[in-house]
Formats: sequence, C-alpha cells, structure tokens
Amino acid sequence: MVAEAEEKMKRIGMLTSGGDCQALNAAMRGVVKTLVNSRQKVEIYGFLDGYRGLIYGNYRMLTGNDFSGILTKGGTILGSSRTPFKTIQDPDENGLDKVAAMIKNYQKLKLDCLVILGGNGTHKTANLLREKGLNVVTLPKTIDNDLWGTDMTFGFQSAVNVATEAIDCIHTTAASHGRVFIVEVMGHKVGFLTLNAGIAGGADIILIPEIPYDINKVIKKIEDREKNGSRFTIIAVAEGAISKQDAKLTKKEYKKKLLNNPYPSVSYEIAAQIQEKTGREIRVTVPGHTQRGGSPCPYDRVFASRLGAEAGEMILNGEYGFMVGYKNREIVKVPLEDVAGKLKMVDPSSTIVKEAKLMGISFGD
Ligand code: F6P
Repeated sequence: MVAEAEEKMKRIGMLTSGGDCQALNAAMRGVVKTLVNSRQKVEIYGFLDGYRGLIYGNYRMLTGNDFSGILTKGGTILGSSRTPFKTIQDPDENGLDKVAAMIKNYQKLKLDCLVILGGNGTHKTANLLREKGLNVVTLPKTIDNDLWGTDMTFGFQSAVNVATEAIDCIHTTAASHGRVFIVEVMGHKVGFLTLNAGIAGGADIILIPEIPYDINKVIKKIEDREKNGSRFTIIAVAEGAISKQDAKLTKKEYKKKLLNNPYPSVSYEIAAQIQEKTGREIRVTVPGHTQRGGSPCPYDRVFASRLGAEAGEMILNGEYGFMVGYKNREIVKVPLEDVAGKLKMVDPSSTIVKEAKLMGISFGD
C-alpha cells in the first residue's frame, strides 16, 4: 500500500472561502500532516482568497513546512473572500466564465482534487464543481454552525467563547449601573451562536431569528426582573433577530423595511423601543468581528485537526464528493449534494431551548 502511495504524486488544490473563522489553519494543517505522514508524495497548490484564486489562477505552491506552526493561528494563511453562489455562473466584469475558468485551472494544474473549506455558500459552489466532474473534499467551517449534515462546524466553539466573554464583561458594568444591556451576537440567519453564548453568559433574554419576539414580552421580562430585585438585564440579540410583526412580512417587504430603517441593526431598534416604552437607560454592545478573530479554542483545534486528518485519509483513498462532518459524536462523510443549499437552524422545540426556558430565560415569544 505504502509503496503504491509513494509511487504516484498527488496534486492537491486547497482554498478557504467565505467569512473566515478560527481553526481554518488547524484544519488545513490536519490534512497536510496526514498526507505527509503517509509518505505520499504531494504537491499542494494553495489558491489565494477563496474561489477567486481558483478562478484567476492565483496560487502559491506550499510544502509541509508552510503548515507548521499554524495550529494556534486564527484567520487563514490562504486568505478568503466571498464569491456569492448567486452570481458564480454569471460572467465577471471582463466576460470571463468563472466556472469554466475554475475547471480550466484545475485541469491545467492536473489536480487530483480540491480541498475546500467553507460554509453554506462555499458548499453550493463546491457541489457545482463536483457536478462538473472535479474531485472535491470539503471541511465545514463557520462560526454560525448552520451547515446541514454536521452537528458542529469548526470556528463555532471559539466564537461562543468570544461572545460569552463579551457578555461576561457587560455583566459587571450592567450590574454597577443598573442598566439594560443588549449584546448583539453574529448570526443573520441562525441563532446557534447567540443561544449558546447567551446561556453561557447568563443572559436573561435571548432573541434569535428562529423564534420571533414580541417587544412587549421582552419589556415584561425586564419589569419582572426589577420587581424581583434585579437591577439590570442582559439581552443577547442575534444580528438576524426578528419581531413577530416583521416575521409576517414577505422577504421583499422586510428587505424594504430594513432599507428604510433608521437603526444600524435590530439591536438598536429594540433598544429604542424599550427606551421609548419604559424610559429605561439602555446600552448596546456589538462585539462584531472579534467573534471570528483570534486563536482557535482548544475544542476547535482538536475538532478541526480531526476533520483535517479524515479529509487527508479520504484523499489517500481517492474518496471524493464528500464533506467531512460530525454526527452523534462520530466523524462522518456527508455527500456534497446532500449538504448544498440546506441550512441548519435552531429548532424552537429543541431541548436546549426548553432547558433555557426552564431556567427562566425569555425568548420574547
Ligand atoms: O458567516 C459568518 C458571519 O460571521 C455571520 O455570522 C455574519 O453575519 C457575517 O459572517 C458577517 O459577514 P462579513 O464578514 O462579510 O461582514
């Protein structure tokens, strides 16, 4: 087996696409260490800035040494960019067929496969490339944890840590001043990050896109807390939290509302409503991209390394067309066609939501 592996050179393209997150480097390192450790001869083509690198043929030849010392580093040594799936099949500003260009570069470099690290949009394009006949293995990254087919994505636990620390810091100052504080957590479409950081940080109210809120219920919770002697309230709000009223709008109507909205984000709208209706002093904190930054937490280092190692083994075995995922505590291979185009969301009737409610956390519903 080893002798066979030594014979043929494997030419591997690698890219990181979409919003970055912690542990991208750890995952790539896991892949490359596995290949190098198998004594498989490899050539690694690192495409720069996501699919853009593959489209325009921007790449760097990498060796095992390039993946040394990056386990703990946040960001991605390859750079990343958003290349929306919606327009991937449209020609670029110079009339270039982007999909054809990716296939051409893959063939020109005689690649055996592409290792693609990304979230939802990235997986749609990865599946398209698979349909076009390219060998693709993907790894699930995103702080949102919203990829279908895997219980966990790397980056998520690190982001939970950062968002939780933000809530922890707000707790002390909120208590000193007896204020209502909103901490806005990332997640436009799904609320996993807000839900977990909210519980971990002891938030009193958690508002997520999957559970539309009623502002009067949010206010009632604040008032009940005060009646019971609490001087402050912490509200964890997902970027995509939505009121019951707005949830009734069509997508188009809601987009129009957002365009004419005087508030920079939903948190400021909620703050203004609470202030107006109760006269209370409200502050909003937005940790923003700090949630995607810094070193991966130990969980993510281990998790991303494991996924990377499994991807490396799949490449050695010539198994393509899968995302390496995690289900029921096992690493699994999920067909790309099953992953692409699906979103994993918080189930409002899941036990974690029930347990949060049992502890008195309000979801404003
Ligand atoms: O996809 C991850 C994510 O961090 C979301 O949680 C967030 O809403 C979005 O990306 C921010 O995107 P950008 O970095 O393009 O501003």
